[in-house]
Amino acid sequence: MEVSEDVQTRAPENFCWWKIFSWLGGPLRIIAKSSANNNRTRAPSWHNKRSSAGWMQSSHIEINIIRDGRQPRPLRVAGFRGLPAAVFWISMSIATDTRPFILEQQFGSDNYAGICPEAWSAMEEANRGFAPSYGDDPWTERASNAFRALFETDCDIFFVFNGTAANSLALASLCQSYHGVICADTSHVETDECGAPEFFSNGSKLLVAHSEDGKMTPDSIHELATKRQDIHYPKPRVVTITQSTEMGTVYTLDEVRAISQASKAHGLSVHMDGARFANACAHLGLSPAEMTWKSGVDVLCFGGTKNGLAVGEAVLFFDHKLAADFDYRCKQAGQLASKMRFLAAPWIGILESGAWLRNATHANHCAAHFAQQIAGIPGIRVTSPVDANAVFLVTSDQILDKLRACGWRFYTFIGGAARFMFAWDSDLRRVDELARDVRDCAT
Ligand SMILES: Cc1ncc(COP(=O)(O)O)c(C=O)c1O
Repeated sequence: MEVSEDVQTRAPENFCWWKIFSWLGGPLRIIAKSSANNNRTRAPSWHNKRSSAGWMQSSHIEINIIRDGRQPRPLRVAGFRGLPAAVFWISMSIATDTRPFILEQQFGSDNYAGICPEAWSAMEEANRGFAPSYGDDPWTERASNAFRALFETDCDIFFVFNGTAANSLALASLCQSYHGVICADTSHVETDECGAPEFFSNGSKLLVAHSEDGKMTPDSIHELATKRQDIHYPKPRVVTITQSTEMGTVYTLDEVRAISQASKAHGLSVHMDGARFANACAHLGLSPAEMTWKSGVDVLCFGGTKNGLAVGEAVLFFDHKLAADFDYRCKQAGQLASKMRFLAAPWIGILESGAWLRNATHANHCAAHFAQQIAGIPGIRVTSPVDANAVFLVTSDQILDKLRACGWRFYTFIGGAARFMFAWDSDLRRVDELARDVRDCAT
């Protein structure tokens, strides 16, 4: 609850600035448009993309002609010349170009959220002065140590740009090209990574197991690991589980341990896609160490993007041997950031402050709240247990269309159910609006 209030008190500040700029921008645009229409100049086609508004083309083109030096001409904007023109142009830019692009909050994805304050201020701090590149900087070292402290072990940490790269490269490092990776039929690696795990491993095959609510069982692993032993079939080498799952459920500690045991019994490594690892920790109330290496997980891809960062995932190897040459793998795949400090610093912000867990707790709370608000509405069924930050609704196409007509965005690509995802900045008042609309559309 503390987190929800904190998030809500921040939102009106931004809103206020946006309002002021909007109020200023409206009348200025009208004045400018009428002046600029009398003053339109030849517009290079690339520039037309910037805006369809005539006044904008006019004022920006004139400035750009001077800036790029190809065709020096006096500064002339909307009928003004020289200094008045510059003042006019700058005020126009403030009133319009700097206006944040704000939509009403939607719950189509937890990627819709912005950057949390803790990550943002750490980025700002890292932006002072200069630092060596390619990870040889104090920020990367501090972020890595923050992970080691959180996970209570001396693991190897690598910072990459996104989850697809983290998963694919981590899996590739555990496999040879002739190996197989056992995964759930709903897993992101199978359904949403465009074949990247197979591509980066030079052909390791994904062996797809049936799952319930996004979870595999030790039996499904045993079945696939023993299905074929002959030379014509890819040799199973790794098991990957997603925590929390793509269906918003969370493997219990016992389930993780049982999967690890089944995997190790067949000589398989265990990889965890933790795009929403923080949400799983928040749900279970367990330490990251217990959830991973203490339970037999060899490699974790810890998601930052859905946890309040702009971008970035951390790949944690709990066995040093498995991390051998992973830096080369990242470099070859275009995942070695030259200005690494900007991938690493936001982690410092969320790990050292505890925001990683607060953010996830708030997101989970919003999902649980939404599920509670819509419980019992006739014609609406929540498909999977709401453990983490996702709620999946099954309902008629007609009701889904009505919800869309109310302006709500959601996806139905996982099994046809409408998915709503909540993030660190989800506003409970907006969650209530969604619940109210679901009720209205269904009745
Ligand atoms: C379970 C899971 N894994 C990984 C990812 C990371 O994907 P991306 O490459 O878009 O960062 C996502 C993103 O939606 C996800 O849901």
